[in-house]
Amino acid sequence: QIKYIEELFTVETPKLKEISDHFVNELAKGLDLGLSVEGGSIPMNPTWVMSYPDGHETGTFLALDMGGTNLRVCEITLTDQKSEFDIIQSKYRMPDELKTGSSEELWEYIADCLHQFVETHHGDCSKLDSIPLGFTFSYPATQNYIDEGILQRWTKGFDISGVEGHNVVPMFEAALAKRDKIDKKQGVPIKLTALINDTTGTLIASAYTDTKMKIGCIFGTGCNAAYMENAGSIPKLAHMNLPPDTPMAINCEWGAFDNEHKVLPRTPYDLIIDRDSPRPGQQAFEKMIAGLYLGEIFRLVLVDLHDNKDIHIFEGQDITALRRPYSLDASFLSAVEEDPFENLQETYDSFVARLSIKCTLPELEFIRRLAELIGTRAARLSACGVAAVCKKKGYQSCHVGADGSVFNKYPHFKARGAVALREILDWPAKSNPKEEDPVEILAAEDGSGVGAALIAALTLKRVKEGN
Ligand code: BG6
Ligand code: GLC
Repeated sequence: QIKYIEELFTVETPKLKEISDHFVNELAKGLDLGLSVEGGSIPMNPTWVMSYPDGHETGTFLALDMGGTNLRVCEITLTDQKSEFDIIQSKYRMPDELKTGSSEELWEYIADCLHQFVETHHGDCSKLDSIPLGFTFSYPATQNYIDEGILQRWTKGFDISGVEGHNVVPMFEAALAKRDKIDKKQGVPIKLTALINDTTGTLIASAYTDTKMKIGCIFGTGCNAAYMENAGSIPKLAHMNLPPDTPMAINCEWGAFDNEHKVLPRTPYDLIIDRDSPRPGQQAFEKMIAGLYLGEIFRLVLVDLHDNKDIHIFEGQDITALRRPYSLDASFLSAVEEDPFENLQETYDSFVARLSIKCTLPELEFIRRLAELIGTRAARLSACGVAAVCKKKGYQSCHVGADGSVFNKYPHFKARGAVALREILDWPAKSNPKEEDPVEILAAEDGSGVGAALIAALTLKRVKEGN
């Protein structure tokens, strides 16, 4: 059985190359007419972030970071010292109920957190001048302006009605205005200056300290990337008559790659993930890679094998707890891969504690191998996206800034991704193991904090200059 599962989850080099070649075409299609081109599903959203920082940006900004897991509020002061900043921040839990609740509840909760933060750090909100805010809203959004975000669709398991197809900025501002109207002291003295994606923030924040940074990636609850394109290569912006060499950061939303299911080697388990998700048919690539789904893929395999009477796994055990969808997350898988004991004692203990299942040693060995296969597939497929952007832009050598829980915490994710990149891009073997790869994926600066502040600063500068 291990062999069958191994074959199912292993993506060999020729397949990686095929995927990344198809990816290059799909990136171009997204820049053309976007979603209206037959077979094109990657949104390639222009973000109106039109320059890199020069390191001399100054000012104090708030950043609101609404990712998939946490809500974070930061205050960032950019100093005139090249590429230096001060940051204070607070993290708030994003309650699960909010992700499928009502739109009003969501915006009111966000307004509450912002108020709490400003009041804690600055006192009476009624006496403050408004502070510019960069809002990191990490979902696919159409932007005709930098302070607009028309939600294309919820991703990462969110399902709040009445938001898709609408600009989220007025909804957010209405929640702030409501507080202000009731009592100025309960108000939130901010002015939304820019709405950004976490990948765009990552790109800009990383480029602030490293000019070799050309791509910003998130490998976390979701997965996505941003890079700087030239307006001349974005046919869908032709009506704007921008000079062809005008830089424009593109939020790829590459989680939607291959929604038509032409190249990705989806397993029966990937089909179930998609079928049972709030948005079937969407985010095909993301559903094979991102942290939200890794534990669920693992769980589905185990349940399926147990239910197959020819395979004797967890025989005679009550697997009720394992049958609960999304009961295992990516950190559970990480822990299995990191179990330091030869007899996989920690894995044994966590199966008993979390799932009331007592595993035999061969079962534990299979569990470990399964986690490795799922984690390796995610890292290798992720490399296809990075390779595709490099190929599209002709980057022979560059740095890629990456953030997110999978990139930062999942064991071997970086190394496995680097091996796959080497296979796809046909680099010769290194003469010295310490030698840098031509394309290096490195841990990014805090894109949703510093990046949001920098983009707010760049926007204010552009407004001041009348562009
Ligand atoms: C955080 C960023 O570091 O990473 C967020 O501040 C981003 O903006 C997040 O969305 C992605 O990782 P995860 O694992 O929280 O989805
Ligand atoms: C999902 C979102 C995207 C975000 C990514 C990482 O793919 O659609 O906007 O960048 O997750 O958080």
